This record gives sequence, C-alpha cells and structure tokens, in this order.
Amino acid sequence: MDGLLIAVPRETVEGERRVAAVPGTISRLVALGARVSVESSAGTSAGFTDEAFREAGAEIVVDGAALWASADIVTKVARPSDEEIARLRPGSVLVSFVNPLGDPQRARALAERGVTTLAMELIPRISRAQSMDALSSMSTVAGYKAVILAAAQLPKLFPLLMTAAGTIAPARVLVLGAGVAGLQAIATARRLGAVVTAFDTRAVVKEQVESLGATFLALELPTRDAEAAGGYARALTHEEEEQERALVAKAVAESDVVVTTALVPGKRAPILVNDQTLGAMRPGSVVVDLAAEAGGNCEGAVPGQSVTLHGVTVIAPLNVPSSVPTHASQLYARNIANLLALVVKDGALHIDLDDEVVRGTCLTHDGKILHAATAALLQTTERK
Ligand code: NAI
Repeated sequence: MDGLLIAVPRETVEGERRVAAVPGTISRLVALGARVSVESSAGTSAGFTDEAFREAGAEIVVDGAALWASADIVTKVARPSDEEIARLRPGSVLVSFVNPLGDPQRARALAERGVTTLAMELIPRISRAQSMDALSSMSTVAGYKAVILAAAQLPKLFPLLMTAAGTIAPARVLVLGAGVAGLQAIATARRLGAVVTAFDTRAVVKEQVESLGATFLALELPTRDAEAAGGYARALTHEEEEQERALVAKAVAESDVVVTTALVPGKRAPILVNDQTLGAMRPGSVVVDLAAEAGGNCEGAVPGQSVTLHGVTVIAPLNVPSSVPTHASQLYARNIANLLALVVKDGALHIDLDDEVVRGTCLTHDGKILHAATAALLQTTERK
C-alpha cells in the first residue's frame, strides 16, 4: 500500500521503557493521511500490547531494520544510536529527543545522513507549541516521581496526623528549582500533606509556588534577575552561586526532604547543596537530585544510584520519566502527534521552515545543522 509511512520502532537504550506512540495516538496519525507501522513489542514495557496497536489501526512489523528503511518519518523517544542513524533512509524525517547540546557530533551525523531531524527538546517555549512541549511533559512526570521516591525512602510520614497515639508533625519538603518539574514536585508533596518551601533564581515563579500552597523562599540575590531567553534560567556567576548556597543552607538543614531540579540549558547543573550543607541535615533525611543527568545539584550524588552521605540518603535517579512508562509514553506520544500535525498534510510531508515551531525544532535539514547553538558548539569543539 502506498502513502506516507510513520514508523514507531522499539527503543533500544537499556532501561528505556517508553514508546513514541500509544494506541490512542495512532488514529490521530492515520487521520493525517499516513500509515503507521509499530515494531513488534515496542509498547510492551509501557503496557501497550501489539494487539492494542493493531486494533487502533497500526501495522505490526517484526523486522526492525526493514521498518527503519521503509519509513518516511521515524518517531522515537531516546536519542538515536549510531546504528540507528545508519538505518535511517536519507530524505526521511526523525522525530525524537536528540540532546544536540550534549552530543553535537550526533547532530552532525544526522545532517550528513541527509535526515531532517525534529528534536523534541528544541520545541520553542511559546503558547502555540505548549501541546508539543515534551520537555515539560517529561518534567511533570519526573517532578511527581521524585516526591514518591522521597516519600518511600523517608523514615517518616508526610502528612500531619492527629491520632489517638498523639500527633505526628508533617514532613518538611524543600524544592530547589521551581520550573515545570519543581512545580509538580511541590504539588505532589502538598497532596501528600507535607509543608513545602521552594526556591528559584527566577523571581517570576513566586506566585506559582504560592498558588500551590507552598512558601517561596525570598532570597534576594543582589544582582539582576536570573531569567533568560525562553523563560529559562541563566547561569549564575561563581559569586552568585556561593551566595545562593549560603542562603539555602539553613532551609536545607531544616528539611526532611530536599528535591533539586535546577537546570541551565546547555550547562552543567549548578551545585546548590554542598557537602557541608548536607552534613547539617538530620540523619534519615532524603535528597532527590533530579539534575543528575546534567551533573547534579547535590555534591556527592552519584548519577543512577542512591548513596548515604552523613546519614542522608541522596538519590540521583536517571531517566525518571521512563519509570512511569505508561503515562510518560501517553504524554510524549501526544506531543509527537501534535507536532506531526504541523508537518504532515493530506498524507504528504510539508516541512515549512517559515513556521516558527517547525523552524525552531528543526535540528538538521538538507544536509545542514539549522540549530545555531549546536552549530556554534561544533565549531568551538573543532577549533580546540
Ligand atoms: P529547567 O528544567 O531548565 O530548569 C528548572 C528550574 O531550575 C528553572 O525554574 C530554573 O529557573 C531553575 N534554576 C536554574 N538555576 C537555578 C539555581 N541556581 N537555583 C535555583 N533554581 C535554578 O526549566 P523548565 O522547568 O523546563 O522551564 C523553565 C520555565 O520555562 C518555566 O517555568 C516557564 O516559565 C517556561 N516554560 C514556558 C513554556 C511555554 O511557554 N510553552 C513551557 C515550559 C516552560
């Protein structure tokens, strides 16, 4: 059968349980005039059977290599491996997380392969693109799960309990970095009954923090506001970081749980909790460092592990969204379907680079790297 083919391969990275389409998004892709092929068992670890995909209108393909070779559009979750890039047909479109600022060489490999890459982390942070914003979806899942991990580890209860055996005081939770993940961590900790405080260098989040019933730590950095382009934080100077660490130290020491989520795009995550501050926490307290993939916010945290430092459990989980694979896949698949609705019209591909969302998300096209920051990063690394 002819027509544009959208492929959904099985993820190959170890530990990745998500999938880029769910049965609920197949009909939306078919409605764009496309055929959808899903690699056999691609959805199994997220709770979606081949049968469910078939019933939703997808074809199930057992031969993975043939699937990649025949696809006009490949939709994926994890950044493609070298082998996967080699499987992509020149002229085809890849829609996936790619981490271009962390791995610019792979962006070059995609450009050289002649693939149009729509990188999910590059979706512009504008209102029109909110429904495609996979970083936000995945941060929402991670923020929720961070608090669940902390609650499971903490030797205390979260809520205030008034029982016949006396009153239990609520847990005190501190959230450092109140972006998308941080706000969901606050909301989740509040739902469990904790008393929550939060801090962010961007003063604009104060209102959002307070609307969730948490206290905003009013720490005036005696410098300009830390909001940069796109609503992201700028990196603080060395001196500002020192000031921040000193300012949050007291709040950290008083907390049972600290969830850290502070990220600065393209940079190592700032250290917000140093060894000395950790040492001032009560034994049994828990830190969940959600910035582990970017180097971590907590000194001594070991990415992918849970360690005990000064009697404090420091958990630095990797790929947290993958640990809630059903809903993480559902949200991600919807983000992908919404993006594909911009580039597939009546069963044909239309990469309109005059569209702000398509242009912003387009990492490689026509053999070139279109994302300026990635191209610049490659030039700098080559000059060294
Ligand atoms: P992120 O994941 O890059 O960073 C997490 C948080 O860490 C941010 O709030 C940042 O300000 C904070 N942070 C950075 N350095 C810090 C430090 N030294 N100390 C304390 N906190 C620090 O950011 P995220 O969560 O992806 O989004 C940030 C903002 O982007 C949102 O709050 C929103 O304003 C904007 N946004 C806009 C969207 C849209 O318009 N479509 C969609 C999503 C986010």
